[in-house]
Amino acid sequence: MGELNGKHVILGITGGIAAYKAAELARRLKDAGAAVRVVMTASAVEFVSPLTLQAVSGQPVRTRLLDSEAESGMDHIEFARWADLVVVAPATANFLARLAGGFADDLLSTLCLATEAPLAVAPAMNRVMWSKAATRRNLVVLRADGVRVIGPDEGSQACGETGPGRMSEPADIVAALAGILSPRSAAGGLKVMVTAGPTFEAIDPVRGITNHSSGKMGYAVARAFAEAGARVTLVSGPVHLPPPGVERQIDVRSAQEMYDAVHAAIAGQHVFVAVAAVADYRPESQESHKIKKNEDTVTLTLVRNPDILASVAALRDAPFCVGFAAETRDVETYARGKLEAKKLDLVCANDVSAPGSGFNSDTNTLLVIGRDDSVRIGPADKEEVARILCQLITKRYEQKNRAQDP
Ligand code: CTP
Repeated sequence: MGELNGKHVILGITGGIAAYKAAELARRLKDAGAAVRVVMTASAVEFVSPLTLQAVSGQPVRTRLLDSEAESGMDHIEFARWADLVVVAPATANFLARLAGGFADDLLSTLCLATEAPLAVAPAMNRVMWSKAATRRNLVVLRADGVRVIGPDEGSQACGETGPGRMSEPADIVAALAGILSPRSAAGGLKVMVTAGPTFEAIDPVRGITNHSSGKMGYAVARAFAEAGARVTLVSGPVHLPPPGVERQIDVRSAQEMYDAVHAAIAGQHVFVAVAAVADYRPESQESHKIKKNEDTVTLTLVRNPDILASVAALRDAPFCVGFAAETRDVETYARGKLEAKKLDLVCANDVSAPGSGFNSDTNTLLVIGRDDSVRIGPADKEEVARILCQLITKRYEQKNRAQDP
């Protein structure tokens, strides 16, 4: 955990039952060599005493925005500048909402707005609050703003229910924070192309063939690589998602357009990750005017689309190629078949029929299959799965390169 050594960390604590775990988190951060300053919201103070945190962090705990004593020492702007990293743990649903809204009505929210340091949150709340549309929306906004979301875990909750919403364990939070500060910036310098979303194959000007892909997994992969320092080109089919903050995004509609966009920009890419659910077939011809319902039956002739991933893997200077295999049965067998047939370096098998996995879900489980082994990732939030996958791909890419070096 050398990344945290000597670093200035602000630990924000908001008012949830998991606040009691924040003392252990502060201690572990100190053990990792960080200088820790604690800021508590008014409701956090109801759950755990500032004195406890003061004893663990070895520093006075701040609870108020305009505290005349504290402001004379280090005002809140100086405090925000002091930080190399800000982590809010536990982060309640209310705090996530205020953070997403850019509020600055207490010390912690003001610090979060005023700091240029990386910001991480470890949410903790009842499972229903975690899955509510408002919380999901706020998380989309926060992630798009570059806030790192750590956890939450699944399990039994203080409210007596079981499900997602438990704050991640302090040891896991410390490991995630070390990853954020890692100077290795794992994928730094890598050029990575990602395809995402569905494709839309027009039948006539108002109709077409598409599929259930939301683009969430592909966007999460693109964002994870960008956050790890890679230069990412995202080629995206039609989705309803905010841009994931990558160097270049090319929006396309059909499989042929995706193929053309990929091949126009593939030269010089180190890694190609095909997450898009590309339509295998398209109508042979596209009507230029809307088809009228004059006939009782209509026959559509479909022709094969080019296989984008296979075509990239077959290039003479092919990048490190990673495919996704969305399956509903015999997942591993079919996925291995794709690894061989398309000559891939890795294939991520995805059982789209399993609950909490695949299309339109916010969570996912992957079995990442290489030539010699396989690694399971998840079940976890798609963003978390993407981050672990990004680290794995980067590692395997480096190993392959080393092995090929004379
Ligand atoms: N893929 C692609 N171009 C296509 C079809 C698929 O680039 N025309 C990529 C997908 O992005 C994914 C992988 O190939 O990474 C596997 O796609 P999938 O549709 O699951 O498999 P197929 O090879 O099309 O086989 P099948 O539909 O028979 O399962």
